[in-house]
Amino acid sequence: MIFAQISVGKMENYSYLFADPVSHEGLLIDPAFDHDKILAMIRDGGINLTHIVLTHHHFDHINATAQIKSHTGAEVICHRETAPLLHGGASYDRLIDDGFSFKIGSSIRAICLHTPGHAPGSLCIVVNDMYLVTADTLFIGDCGRADLPGSDPAALFASLQRLKSLPDHLIVCPGHNYGPVPTRSLGEEKRSNRTLLAANLEEFYKLP
Ligand SMILES: [Fe+2]
Repeated sequence: MIFAQISVGKMENYSYLFADPVSHEGLLIDPAFDHDKILAMIRDGGINLTHIVLTHHHFDHINATAQIKSHTGAEVICHRETAPLLHGGASYDRLIDDGFSFKIGSSIRAICLHTPGHAPGSLCIVVNDMYLVTADTLFIGDCGRADLPGSDPAALFASLQRLKSLPDHLIVCPGHNYGPVPTRSLGEEKRSNRTLLAANLEEFYKLP
């Protein structure tokens, strides 16, 4: 599997590119800011981008969707609660619910988990039982904000509990480079991330 964590914009955002090494069909998660950089990686890799997933509606995760879509024709996928909040020219082709699963080429299986809290339609995506793209739900060493319009702290806590039930070997791929390292195993996050160590909602609310 081809995998790239792409640094974009000035807010330390990450876009993620996955591709099948044989068919070169590809998946892009959260196209933002530097569409020329992303398109160059797609072109240089000979990738036929077939799918784009938007993890949530915030501007810094979707603002290159229209450009990437117009150059590649990829199908844009988001959770149905994200759809009414899209803006800035981003549009969708398919609305999904929790558990939506799809294939990229013959070697990549992506499963979308609805993990609300940071935003109503927040998704985390498991790619091939290897990567866990967490966007703004879980960062390395922290979690996403739950004080924005549409955020729900109790829902975020519940979503983090769900992520804790996933296998330790998954590599957490956050939506921003806010931690000491760009990626880390979910097992390490379970052991050290204060937001995953909170035992209950009361402890979670007390975190600074
Ligand atoms: Fe966000």
